[in-house]
This record gives sequence, structure tokens and C-alpha cells, in this order.
Amino acid sequence: MKFDQPAGQNPIDQLKVIGKPTNRIDGKFKTTGTAPYAYERHDAAPDAAYGYVVGAGIAKGRITAMDLTAAKAAPGVLAIVTADTAGPLVKGDFNTAKLLGGPAIDHYHQAVALVVAETFEQARAAAALIRVDYARDKGRFDLDTALKTAPLKGDDDKAPPVHRVGDFEKAFAAAPIKLDALYETPDQSHAMMEPHASIASWAGDKLTLWTSNQMIAWGKGDVAKTLGIPKDDVRLISPYIGGGFGGKLFVRADAILAALGAKQAGRPVKVALQRPLMINNTTHRPATRQRIRLGAGEDGKLTAIAHESGSGDLPGGGPETAVSQTRLLYAGANRLTSMRLAVLDLPEGNAMRAPGEAPGLMALEVAMDEMAEKLNMDPVQFRIVNDTQVDPEKPGRKFSQRQLVECLRMGADKFGWSQRNAKPRSVRDGRWLVGMGVASGFRNNITMKSGARVGIDKKGMVTVATDMTDIGTGTYTIIAQTAAEVMGVPLEKVNVLLGDSSFPVAAGSGGQWGANSSTAGVYAACMKLREAVAQKLGFNSADVEFADGKVRSGNRSVPLAQAAGDAGLSAEDSIEFGDLAKKEQQSTFAGHFVEVGVDAYTGEIRIRRMLAVCAAGRILNPKSARSQVIGAMTMGVGAALMEELAIDKRFGFFVNHDLASYEVPVHADIPHQEVIFLEEVDPMSSPMKAKGVGELGLCGVGAAIANAIYNASGVRIREYPITLDKVI
Ligand code: MOS
Repeated sequence: MKFDQPAGQNPIDQLKVIGKPTNRIDGKFKTTGTAPYAYERHDAAPDAAYGYVVGAGIAKGRITAMDLTAAKAAPGVLAIVTADTAGPLVKGDFNTAKLLGGPAIDHYHQAVALVVAETFEQARAAAALIRVDYARDKGRFDLDTALKTAPLKGDDDKAPPVHRVGDFEKAFAAAPIKLDALYETPDQSHAMMEPHASIASWAGDKLTLWTSNQMIAWGKGDVAKTLGIPKDDVRLISPYIGGGFGGKLFVRADAILAALGAKQAGRPVKVALQRPLMINNTTHRPATRQRIRLGAGEDGKLTAIAHESGSGDLPGGGPETAVSQTRLLYAGANRLTSMRLAVLDLPEGNAMRAPGEAPGLMALEVAMDEMAEKLNMDPVQFRIVNDTQVDPEKPGRKFSQRQLVECLRMGADKFGWSQRNAKPRSVRDGRWLVGMGVASGFRNNITMKSGARVGIDKKGMVTVATDMTDIGTGTYTIIAQTAAEVMGVPLEKVNVLLGDSSFPVAAGSGGQWGANSSTAGVYAACMKLREAVAQKLGFNSADVEFADGKVRSGNRSVPLAQAAGDAGLSAEDSIEFGDLAKKEQQSTFAGHFVEVGVDAYTGEIRIRRMLAVCAAGRILNPKSARSQVIGAMTMGVGAALMEELAIDKRFGFFVNHDLASYEVPVHADIPHQEVIFLEEVDPMSSPMKAKGVGELGLCGVGAAIANAIYNASGVRIREYPITLDKVI
């Protein structure tokens, strides 16, 4: 199905199942421990041997010698994979560094060997006997130093490195009120609960990988490319994922090494990246240095906006696109945005939890708070005054929907913003200094081609199969809701199969595009199936109606089960997006409000209340969408107050590379969270009229917290995370 016209009235609009707060259908499996994760597929490969990954002990240089003698002789050892035994490996499209290093080493903890043994303990013990000698090169580990000579870099190779509208320098010089400030965000790690894990099994030339991966088709392609085998010989199976956060958008060393280990050992091999290895072995969100300059008139209208961001990555990597929201969020005639990309020899940077906007808004929305104060304006009002209904870089190009002002107004009302004292450090509750902060939330809506197969069997059960994934987001449920709505059956009559590369290729889970795109693909397949049903019954497809498990036309009514017959009926289709997204800008918006307490004596910061008001198209399932948003708000608390990878700048690695030392919020850190979704349907986004909401929930939260801390304590911190030592 080609989607190139705004969506009209369609079966989704019935809203019998869609739009209802529905429990996750996979919830009971996950909470009772019966959802099998990749590493637990004992049923699939009962004879699997265990792999243990050895990571490089240097950040840059090469291996001069590797002595495997003792390891090979250790009890239970079946195989040892190294660059020498693996044969030529091609770097995948989605990795910056090779997943198996040697002799050249590109980053600390890059995999250099996999020991395969009968038991995990034997593999681990043998791995400790491997002796590796290195010649260490001088690496580049300091972002500030590296940025001094770093070149400008566009979002991708085709994008212009600098975006300019009007004459920023002139307008900034002339502005009566201005701000010029530098903001810093640190390197951060996904730190999801389930580590990267895979079981590999070969049947002749055919490889099956039970793995944990967000983007099945990308992964399948990269496994085939890396190993130099045909794509058709690779099958990825990933029905349950214990969190991805962007860290599992791409296959990592566990998958490739398990495949190589299984080949060498001649039996299935399972590999979970050991937790202390994960943070340096896989990807992370790169640190940023962001300079923001804002100029405004006395009326509070922005006349000049500049946002320049610098980040670093391994050679061949990309920038953290922290300026993208600044191109779209506020009006202002004179604008400049640019990025610099430094070469660093730290582990690989890549997408993590709303890449770009999440760290970008942590700077921009604090700058907006600082500017509002200089203007002596309420920060909610300052944002409203600078709203735009058109793309500020391409005047005339509208937003398909833009309810930022409504989000801010509703949020201010519900949160009790009028109670806020604009003068910092003026509200006290016992030993706590109390403050409120606000920030705009912004995240783009991306659409991706997405396919599915839908069938009805003789019992009237509808089965959807697609390689779409559920990373804890509720995909199973919203896909079931979509099929139930379109086929006119209750939710219990729908069975959803996900995460298998033998199913039609879907959008996958990333960039908050999964919900809208994948359900639209299911919608397309269901509409095709409806046609097949109508045709089989000789019904006129124009007046055919699917409801209550029956198909009706005129005065004829046939149960779906009967229509399907013994052989059943099925249809496959995909949604393909035309250039609607070019005609109008599709984005999602939020107003984030936070109240914090700052201990007047110790500087300890506690979140007291949080509210997000979101406008993100049709909300397919308010319950799972709310869960997405409160999870994202929690990530915002982590980003604002805790999360930071500490770099050893002598040796080039992240020191706090486990869950004991990489701090994330726990339940005790999170108070009352409230989420409000504004009524919105977006006919430009898809037949579902929905958009993404998961990452939106994070975008802006960090700044709202920083602004609340300022309002509480009078201390303006521009370096995240905001820890108590910085407040005191
Ligand atoms: Mo997301 S960081 O695109 O999985």
C-alpha cells in the first residue's frame, strides 16, 4: 500500500480497540519470567556450548603476540576464535569498528577472542589463561583537545555542514538582550537490563541466530555481510528483548562471535556479553560540547539563534546530532546551526535514547530559561511567544500538527505553574529548597516502510507475522489492536508473531518510528486480507463490513472462520511512504514540568513531581504509551542527575563499566509522574494517524530538571550530570 495522500476515514477510526488503554499481552510472560530471552532458548539449542568474550586491554595499537596454549589445554575448551582463525571478516554497514579486532585494535574492550567451552565457568577460566601482548599507540581520548582541530560535519555525508538562514552575526550583534553560553553533556551508556546475547546454530551453510536485536533486517544484512555469506542463509530470531535503548539497533560481537564459535566448535554456541565488558565493547551516546547564542528584542521575540555542537567518534563515525531540534523548534529570522566531529579512540559512539534531541534539548532548553530570565519573562510565556507554525528554515512549509503551545499551556495549568516564584532560592520546605522548571519537548516523527503477513484460520483466529520487534514498548499489543480493529474481531482472537527474519520486513524499533510505521504495515496487510475475504465470498468490497467476527455485505453475513475455510486465507503487504513527509514537517511536541528539592546543606537533589503533556498524533494505546513516556521521563532524570561515563584519559576507556558504578535512577529516585496526551490525529503520518511518543517523553526532561534546580537553588549548572558537588 502506497501512502502518498493524507489519510481519509478508514477502519481504524472506529476506535473500538485502538485508542483503548489495553494491558500488554506479553506482560504476563515478562513479569512471570516465562518470556524466553535469546540466551535462555535452551529449547532451541539444548546442546549449546558457552562462549566467553575476551576484550582488548588497550584502546589503540596492535596485538604483537597471542599465546593460546594454556587456554586450549584447559578443561572443557572446544574452540578459540581469534582474528587468525576467523578468516577474513568484512565490517558491517552499521558498525564503525570491526566486531572482532586483531591484530589492529580500534578501541578498548574490542573483542579479540571468544573461548568456547562445555560450561560458562570453563570458558571463563580458560579465557583468563590467554596471554595477549600489545604494542600500544597514543590514542586521542580528550574531546576538548580533539575538538580544537575538528572539522565541521553534516548530519550525513550529503547534508550541508552549516545551516544558515538570514544573517545571524549581524542580528546577534544588534540584539538588545543576548546570551552566549556553553553546555556540556557527558558520554552515556544504554545500560539496558538484558545484555547483548545470542545463540548461534549452523545447519550446513544455514545460520540461525537467536538474538536480542531491535532491527532484524539490518541485523540479518550485517551478519551476512560480515561473515561473507548470502543473506538467505541467515535467520535472526528476536521475539523478546530486555531493553535496547539504541544499543541493539545493530548486531554486535555476541552475534558474530557466536556464529564463528559455533562453526569452529561444530555445535551451537551461546554468548552473552559479560556486563563489565559491555560498556566499552558496544556503543554509547557521545559527549557533546554545545555553544548556544540567543538574541532577542525587548518584546521577547528571538531575532538570532545559533547552536553549534561538537562531539567525537572513532574514525568513520558520525556526530551526535544535537542541533537538529534547534532548526525547527522556535521562530527567529536569523539562524545558524552546525556540528563538529572530532576523531577519538574511545569506544564507538552511536544512537542512544533519542539521539540528537535528547542531549540537544538539555542545552537549548536551559539557554531558553536563561534568556527568559534576562528578559524578565515567564519561561512558559517566552516559549509561547517564540512558537512557529512553519519550518523556520523553509518558510511556507507547515508542520502537519504542532501543539507545542497547547502542551505548555495545559502543563502550566495542571502543574500549578502560577505558584512558581520566579526569584530563585525563594521557596523553602524544611531543609529543602524547592523549585519548578519547564522545558519544551520535541522529537521528529520518522516513517519507515513496514510489512506484515496476516492470516485467518478456520477457527477465526487472526495471526499477524512481521519481523517487527518489541523492545518493551508494547508492540505486540498495538499490533494486535490494529489487526483486531481492521478485521473486526476481539483482541483475544489475534495472535502476534514478531522478531523473526523469516517474516515480512518491518520498520523495526528505533527513532520512535516503530509504533506508527509497523501498525500501518499491519493495517495494509489487513486491508488486503479484507479484499481477499470479500472476493472469496463474492461480496462487493465497497460496502463490505467487518465486525463482531463476521463479514457482512447487504443482508448477507458470514463468520470470518467460515469465510477462511479449512485452508485459511492470508495476505501480505507493506506500507510504503511517499513524499508526504517532505510536504509538511512531522514532529511531536511536549511540555515538561518538574519540581525539585535541593537540600540547602548537602546539595542533594530530589525530584518531587513530574508532568509531561504530549502531542504526538493518535495515541494507539494510552496505557502502553504512558508507560513509554514515564520510562523516558525516568531516563531524563538519569541524564540530568546521574548518568556519566568517566573516561580514563591515559588509557582510553570508560572506567565505570558496570551497573554498580554507572548510575541510573531506581524506583526510590522517581516520585509521582503524570502524563497527559492531547487529542490529536495526524492524517499525514499514516493510515493510523499516529506518531511516535517514546523518545518524546525523554526530550526536554533533563533541561526541565536543570531549570528547576536553578529555580530552587539559584545555581545555574551547564554541565551534566548535575551532581551535588556542582550545586554546593
Ligand atoms: Mo533508538 S536510540 O533509535 O533505539
